[in-house]
Amino acid sequence: MSETTIETRDHIGIIRLNRPDKLNALNTTLMTQVIEALEQFDRDNNIRCMLLAGDQRAFAAGADINEMADATMIEMHHRNMFGRWDRIKKIRKPIVAAVSGYALGGGCELMMCCDIVVASETARFGQPEVNLAIIPGAGGTQRLTRAIGKARAMDLILTGRMITADEALAMGLVSRVVPAEQWFDAALQLCQELCEKAPMALQAGKDAVNSAFETTLTEGIEVEKKLFYMLFATDDQTEGMRAFVEKRKPVFVGR
Ligand code: CAA
Repeated sequence: MSETTIETRDHIGIIRLNRPDKLNALNTTLMTQVIEALEQFDRDNNIRCMLLAGDQRAFAAGADINEMADATMIEMHHRNMFGRWDRIKKIRKPIVAAVSGYALGGGCELMMCCDIVVASETARFGQPEVNLAIIPGAGGTQRLTRAIGKARAMDLILTGRMITADEALAMGLVSRVVPAEQWFDAALQLCQELCEKAPMALQAGKDAVNSAFETTLTEGIEVEKKLFYMLFATDDQTEGMRAFVEKRKPVFVGR
């Protein structure tokens, strides 16, 4: 059974989590489908960015607790259910998350694997794992700390409390908050804007920003410089600068 719906619109690959009765809790099948769809879109030359969304009530309320409730430590070790999430880090094209309702636990962690988050004013975020006597296991302790700093990450992870979209915006966990009825369309519109940019520049920008989390400042600046110079090998760079000089809109072809 499909736990996701996958479609393309122009150059956008859209993946929607589809377990509405379970607030899109992330079970094995759903996560396999999400990761495979992201990889498929990443390989598809027609696709320039991806949109990952839940529904109005929930982006995702976490990993599926029913799948873990009776597991032993040895089973969890062998299952390594979050090991495959590392594949999301390797996706080169931008991923926009459209978040309405709950983004909790693994849902918040999946959202943090995305590159730009558009949140409904109704969205609620949190890492409530402590209430289950566990901790975040899909990168939450690391990505949340990098996103909002130690003091706030400790507060959220040790109390398990939920925060509003405005708090998430103020903390830097999301970059845009939109009226409730626009949560999906605003994210789609953002994807359309990204599709008009030069694809290689988008991928280089993503790569360079992400390297800020993996390297020293000196190494990161070296990465940035190499990517910057590399873009001068693309037709789109020539077109972008020529169009500016000629005072016209550039048309980017992705090479
Ligand atoms: N796993 C499995 N099922 C879940 C779920 C989850 N994470 N979250 C919600 N559901 C299910 C509920 O069991 C319920 O199913 P039934 O109708 O069959 O009983 C359905 O979704 C609707 O949920 P509620 O009735 O609970 O809805 P509510 O509006 O009363 O409450 C909520 C909403 C506060 C989000 C509540 O559902 C909740 O607390 N969910 C769990 C949140 C959580 O603890 N997430 C972390 C999971 S662990 C994790 O994610 C580890 C990690 O790091 C990856």
